[in-house]
Amino acid sequence: MSLRRATASPLFTPAAEDRAARKAARHQLTRATSRARRAAQAHTPAAVGDMHPELRPQYPAVGRPGPASGRGGHLKLPAHRVTTATACGAYPFLAEGGLGSEGIYVGRDLHAEGAYCFDPFALYGKLDGFTNPNILLAGIIGMGKSALAKSLAVRATSFRYRVYVPCDPKGEWSAVSAAVGGTTIALGPGLPGRLNPLDAPARPDGVPEDDWASEVRKRRLLLLGSLARTVLHRDLAPMEHTALDVALDHANAVAMAEHRTPLLPDVARVLGNPHALDAAYGDPASRLGAAAEDLAHALRRLIAGDLGGLFDAPSTAVFDPTSPMLTIDLSRLGSSGDDTALVLAMTCASAWMESALADPTGGRRWVIYDEAWRVMRHTALLERMQSQWKLSRGLGIANLLVIHRLSDLLSAGDAGSRGRALAEGLLADCSTRIVYRQEADQLAAAAGLLGLTGVETEAVSALTKGRGLWRVAGRSFVVQHILHPAELQVFDTDTRMR
Ligand SMILES: Nc1ncnc2c1ncn2[C@@H]1O[C@H](COP(=O)(O)OP(=O)(O)O)[C@@H](O)[C@H]1O
Ligand SMILES: [Mg+2]
Repeated sequence: MSLRRATASPLFTPAAEDRAARKAARHQLTRATSRARRAAQAHTPAAVGDMHPELRPQYPAVGRPGPASGRGGHLKLPAHRVTTATACGAYPFLAEGGLGSEGIYVGRDLHAEGAYCFDPFALYGKLDGFTNPNILLAGIIGMGKSALAKSLAVRATSFRYRVYVPCDPKGEWSAVSAAVGGTTIALGPGLPGRLNPLDAPARPDGVPEDDWASEVRKRRLLLLGSLARTVLHRDLAPMEHTALDVALDHANAVAMAEHRTPLLPDVARVLGNPHALDAAYGDPASRLGAAAEDLAHALRRLIAGDLGGLFDAPSTAVFDPTSPMLTIDLSRLGSSGDDTALVLAMTCASAWMESALADPTGGRRWVIYDEAWRVMRHTALLERMQSQWKLSRGLGIANLLVIHRLSDLLSAGDAGSRGRALAEGLLADCSTRIVYRQEADQLAAAAGLLGLTGVETEAVSALTKGRGLWRVAGRSFVVQHILHPAELQVFDTDTRMR
């Protein structure tokens, strides 16, 4: 058998071929080359400047600046035709293959030049290291974070996922919710909407009555504790904890006797009456009533103070589990420098929503915390979020947290503090991290917290509107989010600027 040598020339011409065959091959190559040249001339690519911004390549033709730059424009080699099977052996490290076509369409993967789809529920269990469906989205103002969150939400509804937005401080989600036939509850002074944060969710099938009652009690205590801590700006003393649970039990007993759900004023009334509290505790000499003075005043803020008339009456909205989207508009709560009112409202609203989210048969759901950076400094709220995060897999919930800078997570407290640990825990529990453009002085912090490589960090500094670095369980993509014109119309937050 003669030994034949193959070369990787544009057409294979085994060396042992006779003269006539080699000549025929040469002619064939000349013809193929001139055909290819004609085809190339017919299709002159548009200059980058004329391209639609969304379709511009991530890097210029000369490659990234720097030594290891993957330059494209300078190589002068003859055209090389091979099958894709051979090409992927010859060029194995060019671009990520993507996450597959399953899930919600997001836009274009700029490295692979293909469509990019994402669905945390579809990826769960399929991708190594993808341990939870939660997402962190960080980027400076105006880069399209909310637009991305809204797109994901709207597109998710067509997969029959339900979307909940427990806190919408700018009121920009109401139009989105209306567009998909969802519900919006607007809360604020003078508005008719009321939520009773002590509402109990319907008991799931198969859970014994007693177990459910103790679960509901636990949730209510957690909520009251969060509210008190937020107003008092400190942790509760042991006697205050006791006072809270005695007051809650007493208020609950009174409400049950009247066949209604307890309200915050019921609890506040017991706390504000030392004799009643001591009597309810069963020990008149316990001084529990005196110890609960601060608590009583803290709760009063939600009843008679600046937040009066929002959370102190039976809910005006019933939780509709079939509604595709539910948003809580808190934009009327004032945008003064003090975020306490917003945090209290968000605590109550999310407690009300969570009680409905706790239904494990409720299907797959998204919970979106837009503008979450405003509330990251409040440990009580972080605690609620953390418990929600931990439940996410069991309940089929994907949480999406939108912040400005990664250092918003660090502002939750000093190193080693509880707030800081909670915030870092939230970050660790997000298998998907999407980084939009960061300020130059934030790049190092972002790279450190997310473990970005030098190339990824550089990519983040060059991102434009709607373009983000997606880190999904250690794999990374640069994705241009593409908005449908109809979406753009509903999501636009720039109208007033123009
Ligand atoms: N992918 C995109 N394509 C085109 N325009 C976009 C895109 N993303 C955002 N925009 C525009 O940018 C504006 C600001 O976006 P927004 O999502 O509100 O920013 P952020 O929430 O990051 O502050 C939007 O009103 C929209 O008009
Ligand atoms: Mg926004």
